[in-house]
Amino acid sequence: MNDLLANLRPAAEEMKDGAFLLANFADTDKILQELPRLLEASPLRHMTTPGGRQMRVAMTNCGQYGWVSAPSGYRYDSTDPTTGNPWPDMPEPFMALAKNAAAAAGYDGFAPDVCLINRYGVGTRLSPHIDQDEAEKSWPIVSVSIGIPAIFQLFGSARGGTATNIPLYDGDVMVLGGRARMYYHGVKPVTAARDARIGALRYNLTFRRAR
Ligand code: SIN
Ligand code: FE2
Repeated sequence: MNDLLANLRPAAEEMKDGAFLLANFADTDKILQELPRLLEASPLRHMTTPGGRQMRVAMTNCGQYGWVSAPSGYRYDSTDPTTGNPWPDMPEPFMALAKNAAAAAGYDGFAPDVCLINRYGVGTRLSPHIDQDEAEKSWPIVSVSIGIPAIFQLFGSARGGTATNIPLYDGDVMVLGGRARMYYHGVKPVTAARDARIGALRYNLTFRRAR
């Protein structure tokens, strides 16, 4: 690849075992234009875990299916249980972003049917977990950061241990594929900061192939 092309294409940096960071890959202004419409159709909500706790991260979905946590367990559902309607369609620019990011990390042919939308306020954390409710685990997970920064923690295939700490800024995209696809990961409590467009908030979109 010549130098000019190398400069135009954001580099994918492998952080660990098939987990790639694509720094400043996403045009988040474009994403934020789509968001109000999606959140109006399927509002953000604090889901309940199977253990009966309320999640601190506010969540909703767009796409063919949505990830749902409930006292009965985790599932992918084509209906939003809050509205009783199908989730709003995944906007075309979301789909294109997810496909391009996966391909830039070396995972071709990714066609997500879920976009989980997470909203973090200051102090909100996401405890370490593995994304394992998808039928086919060989597809990567593509995760897009919007708004104020956070520290993403990538562990290994066992709970605990030392984390690789990856600061994620607006526009950064993480792609979890290969062995890291089944690694524990989470987000440290978000520290106070302000984004000129959305204030003291961080959104994260995770694109998955559920079925
Ligand atoms: C997730 O693991 O589902 C979200 C990760 C993030 O917010 O960066
Ligand atoms: Fe996750």
